[in-house]
Amino acid sequence: MSNNLIFSGIQPTGNLHLGNYLGAIRNWVKLQNDFECIFCVVDMHAITIPQDPAVLHASIREVAAGMIASGVDPQKNILFNQSRVPAHAELAWVLNCIARIGWLNRMTQFKDKAGKNRDNATVGLYVYPNLMAADILTYKATHVPVGDDQKQHLELARDIAQAFNSQFGVDFFPLPEPQIFATAARVMSLRDGTKKMSKSDASDQSRINLTDGPDEIAQKLKRAKTDPLPLPESAEDMKERPEVANLIGIYAALSDREIGDVVTEFAGKGFAEFKGRLADLAVSVLGPIGTEMQRLTKDPGYVDQVLREGGEKANAIAAPVVDQVHDIVGFLR
Ligand code: TRP
Repeated sequence: MSNNLIFSGIQPTGNLHLGNYLGAIRNWVKLQNDFECIFCVVDMHAITIPQDPAVLHASIREVAAGMIASGVDPQKNILFNQSRVPAHAELAWVLNCIARIGWLNRMTQFKDKAGKNRDNATVGLYVYPNLMAADILTYKATHVPVGDDQKQHLELARDIAQAFNSQFGVDFFPLPEPQIFATAARVMSLRDGTKKMSKSDASDQSRINLTDGPDEIAQKLKRAKTDPLPLPESAEDMKERPEVANLIGIYAALSDREIGDVVTEFAGKGFAEFKGRLADLAVSVLGPIGTEMQRLTKDPGYVDQVLREGGEKANAIAAPVVDQVHDIVGFLR
C-alpha cells in the first residue's frame, strides 16, 4: 500500500548483538520489500545519557554498518543518522509545548533509566519520548516497528499527534500504529535466562555480537548455560527453564520456524546435539553479517556516504512538514 510509511530508530550505544538483530534489524530487512521505509540511527537520543564523543562517533558508523551488513538496502530505503536532519530537533520543540508533564510522568522507561536519583537525570532523558514522537511525525509515518518496551512511547506519540491536531483544528498528523514483532523479540543472556541480552553486560560470553567470527559464535552457544535435563517435550515444559526457552527461541527465530515445531524436533534429545545444530545455524546466518561488518568498518567512507545521502533524502521529506507545522502554529517565516 503506497500510503504506508514506516519509520523506525535504533540507538548507537555500544555494540550490536543478536538481540538487536532478531528484535529489530531483521524485521526491518523483511519490511523493506513491501513498504517505503525510513531507518534512523538516533544519535540525539543516545546523548540523553552522557556518551564519550569518540565512542559515540564510532557507534553511529557501526550501527549503520550493521544494518547494511544485515541486508537493509540503502538504495531502497532511507538510512541516516538523526542529528544531520534539523527537523527532528525543531519539531521536538513544538511537541514539547503540546505534551503535558503528566503524560511524561507516566513513562516507565524514564523511571527505569533515571533510577533512584531522578533529580540527576538529564532533562533530555525526560523529554526523550517527545523527540521520538517528532522522529515519527516529521515524516508523517503511519507504521512503527518497535520492541515491546517501546509500546508506551508510541502510545504517547499518538496522543501528541491527536492533541496537536485538535488544538489547532487540523487533520495534519496521522496517528502512527505500532508494529510489535512477537517472535524472539526478547533475546536473553546466554549466562542467565532471566536477564535480557545486553551490550552493557560485563560478560562478553552472555551475548553474541554481530561482529563475532564463526569460532566465537559457536563457542559462546556451546558454553551457554542450560540444565542437566534433556530437551523439553512440549513448550509448556520450558516455563521453568528460561535458559532452555531462550536457546529454543533463538533457534526458531534464526530458522524462521515456530517454537512448537523446534520443540517437537528436539524433544528428549541431549543438549550436545541441539547446541551443535544451533551453533551451525547461527554461524550460517550471522557469519556473513560479521564478515561484511568488518569489511564496512574498514571502509567508513562508504558508510558515511550512505548516511549523508540518506540524510538529504530524509531532509527533503521532513523540512516541508516542519514548515507546515510552523505555519499551523502561527510562526512568521
Ligand atoms: N526509543 C527507541 C529505542 O530505544 C529508539 C527510537 C528513537 C525509535 N526514535 C524512534 C524507534 C522512532 C521507533 C521510532 O528502541
